[in-house]
Amino acid sequence: MSFANSHQIVTNQTGVHDNLEQIVEKHLQHAFQKPYQQHSIDGFKLVAAEVARAGKPIIFDSCCGVGDSTINIARAHPDHFVIGLDKSGHRLNKNEAYEQHGIDNFMLLRTDLNDFWRLALEAKMLPQKHFILYPNPWPKSKHVKRRWHGSAVFPTIVALGGELEMRSNWRLYLEEFAAALALTDKPAQVIEFEPENCITPFERKYQASAQPLFKLTASL
Ligand SMILES: C[S@@+](CC[C@H](N)C(=O)[O-])C[C@H]1O[C@@H](n2cnc3c(N)ncnc32)[C@H](O)[C@@H]1O
Repeated sequence: MSFANSHQIVTNQTGVHDNLEQIVEKHLQHAFQKPYQQHSIDGFKLVAAEVARAGKPIIFDSCCGVGDSTINIARAHPDHFVIGLDKSGHRLNKNEAYEQHGIDNFMLLRTDLNDFWRLALEAKMLPQKHFILYPNPWPKSKHVKRRWHGSAVFPTIVALGGELEMRSNWRLYLEEFAAALALTDKPAQVIEFEPENCITPFERKYQASAQPLFKLTASL
């Protein structure tokens, strides 16, 4: 995918997935009991120790990729401690980042959010703000359960609470998420927006390709 020629979403869906309500209701009624991986537990303990040391309200930057957004969010929120979370390896360690960016109110953790979010909820480590920026869209209809609102961990995202902000180049993803939230009686807004400064690599790439961008916000 070249930088200024990022592909538009191609989907075989024309609106909110027909089975969305049924899928979400099932997940709301049955607890997600998949056992935790040991490295998820170990990673969570590292975060809990840093959060205790920081002594600040926390922000989750879930699906943070390489962590650019984490640093941008940390800079914009000096009174918060920001935790960037992604299952792929990240390239920055805290000291490098501190030297490069002059801030230390954040950390990055390589983890599977299907575990991390549940561990955080159990430990009552709740974010004041929760960013999920440009999650993998899984645009094929048959992959709806891979989208966060179709996944078994969706009720955990809601229960973690905080001010949720999601961004996507696919409006329907966010409209489905809003429809899933409505089933938990949480209102959400979805708008088109133009970022003044791009805060993630995907955002930069989509903007360079003149793709419209969308934002969901909700108070959970
Ligand atoms: C499309 S990328 C967006 C990255 C970044 N937010 C950006 O805008 O540049 C989606 C990210 O979600 C992460 N991701 C997907 N499923 C995940 C999971 N179960 N746990 C943690 N991260 C996950 C991927 O590793 C990937 O980095």
